[in-house]
Amino acid sequence: MTNPYDEAFEKSIKDPDSFWAEAAEDCHWYKKWDKVLDDSNKPFYRWFTGGEINTCYNALDFHIENGLGDQDALIFDSPVTNTIKKYTYNELRDEVAKFAGVLASLGVKKGDRVLIYMPMIAESAISMLACARIGAVHSVVFGGFAANELAVRIDDAKPKVIVSASCGIEVAKIISYKPLLDAAIDMATSKPEKCIVLQRPMETASMVEGRDLDWNDIMADAKPHDCVPVAATDPLYILYTSGTTGIPKGVVRDNGGHVVALKWSMKNVYNVDQGDVYWAASDVGWVVGHSYIVYGPLFKGCTTILFEGKPVGTPDAGVFWRVISEHKVKTMFTAPTAFRAIKREDPTAELMKKYDLSNFKALFLAGERLDPDTLKWAEKNIGCPVIDHWWQTETGWAICANCLGIHHFPVKEGSPTKPAPGWDVKVVDSNNNLVKPGEIGALVVKLPLPPGTLPTLWNNDEAYIKAYLEEFPGYYKTADAGFIDEDGYVFVMARTDDIINVAGHRLSTGGMEEILSDHPDVAECAVLGVDDKLKGQIPIGFLVLNAGVDRSHDEIIKEVVQMVRDRIGPVASFKIATVVKRLPKTRSGKILRGTIQKIADNKEWKLPATIDDPATLDEMEEALVKIGFAKARK
Ligand code: COA
Ligand code: AMP
Repeated sequence: MTNPYDEAFEKSIKDPDSFWAEAAEDCHWYKKWDKVLDDSNKPFYRWFTGGEINTCYNALDFHIENGLGDQDALIFDSPVTNTIKKYTYNELRDEVAKFAGVLASLGVKKGDRVLIYMPMIAESAISMLACARIGAVHSVVFGGFAANELAVRIDDAKPKVIVSASCGIEVAKIISYKPLLDAAIDMATSKPEKCIVLQRPMETASMVEGRDLDWNDIMADAKPHDCVPVAATDPLYILYTSGTTGIPKGVVRDNGGHVVALKWSMKNVYNVDQGDVYWAASDVGWVVGHSYIVYGPLFKGCTTILFEGKPVGTPDAGVFWRVISEHKVKTMFTAPTAFRAIKREDPTAELMKKYDLSNFKALFLAGERLDPDTLKWAEKNIGCPVIDHWWQTETGWAICANCLGIHHFPVKEGSPTKPAPGWDVKVVDSNNNLVKPGEIGALVVKLPLPPGTLPTLWNNDEAYIKAYLEEFPGYYKTADAGFIDEDGYVFVMARTDDIINVAGHRLSTGGMEEILSDHPDVAECAVLGVDDKLKGQIPIGFLVLNAGVDRSHDEIIKEVVQMVRDRIGPVASFKIATVVKRLPKTRSGKILRGTIQKIADNKEWKLPATIDDPATLDEMEEALVKIGFAKARK
């Protein structure tokens, strides 16, 4: 028996042109496309070539022209500053148009890059939309990254202007942003012409004369700027994400496909309509923040919430329920780790009882595997559908989901349900052959990817092909392993590369290893992601010291922990390391990461046939037991 999902899915795969053209009709175009799917330069597929569009127009002006000017577009809710500030579509458009005028007055033109390094404040969304308004390409960098990571991104994107703020607030801590920005600019080879800094009341940043401008001063004299039509295939933003080395990958998003796919996803995946209140509790520095704090909800004419706070501690584990109730949130999206944090503090959901959640209709979770305990706890206490969905920075929207707006399937624990329309997901073995249902293999997506996904990496077509298209010809490699069961449900099990997910934040253990290796006393090292009850995974480091090093191990560990914090940032959550005599390896010299991980996680493991010296695993186990990660075998 077919259902609306089967029909939609089949149409999206068999006739993508008409499927996505229909979705595109719902958006505003200055000029309609010549081709929906342009496959003239395989493997680089483009969507809506020949079309002209403006992302900011679709997010704001379009709704004002359709009578939504007085509806709330954005609610800034900041428990850490006791602020709630609402912007109607008219007000948000006016602020954005003014900031677009500021950028234009500084010489920012279509195609120029603007880097945004800001905390979770309304001005970060205003900056992003202002870039989109004039066709500039924004690159938002998450606040938890250190100066070094910021410098790498500055050198790759070469922004003309950087927009920042004096500080962010992490629960009760003031995080000074400006010294990090100044240090990053010092380190970078490419220098921005200007920096615009929003001085927040909690901290005043020192300004560099001739380079730094005060947000409030320049906004006071700004002239509004109109939307500039851009090609559908022009880049809207670059978002850097962890790759398998310390060098991040600059994921590119274009304008046309992005508007079409995200607007379509609001109804079809999330089941929200114009006028509904939608809340993604994430950060504008991550893809979830781009797609579902800023763009998706505004394309749909929803009210979006920008929340400067944490699930716990701001002030308590009831804050999510307060926000949902106070702003009448219909649909919420966050990472499972946030719910694990709430569950830990308020296991019986007592704080929830204080609030009226009658408007709350669905909770979507993504960013890491949704563990059954968290799923059950959320389902039991909230009493509305709890939907796991799987996606990546690269894909921009859900690869797999229980698409509530199309058909609500029964939930299977551990599965983000079925491929969303547009996503031809397969499981293949290492020879690129399809495997049988239930068999684990590499999760891949048959090309072309749907609109709204990455067309390439910034200035690096070659790296795009190498990272995503080379290993499994004809497919996009997700770098996740998993299986599809007999009913077509997809199960995502683990990454096949060195990426780990820490509190829903994507990090490269390879990048951390590069830093540890730089310590003068470290001969060799390995970093692995091990299970953590709150954050899903946390990195731990294993250090083999140079012969003759007789310094205190604790000192060395303290130093490497600080090095990771200084170079990647606090977001890496790298706090635990241990010294071992040797790393367990195969006879060909490969570190036995899988086995070490199983030992650390107290999972069953077998002695690998290829091991060089079995005693190394005993030593490793001993080291892990000492730091509380493995149970010693009898
Ligand atoms: N700016 C500066 N520092 C930041 C930061 C930011 N925007 N975000 C995080 N940090 C810092 C934190 O203060 C912390 O520093 P510390 O080591 O000095 O304590 C460190 O980075 C690690 O942060 P985090 O991983 O967020 O851990 P946490 O213990 O502060 O909070 C959770 C844990 C689960 C409450 C938190 O991660 C969370 O709310 N997650 C929600 C989901 C989410 O945002 N997912 C993103 C993708 S959807
Ligand atoms: P990011 O690019 O930060 O969004 O991280 C993407 C990665 O997070 C994916 O490749 C997965 O490994 C993991 N991930 C995201 N969502 C899920 C999910 N619903 N289930 C399992 N893993 C997920």
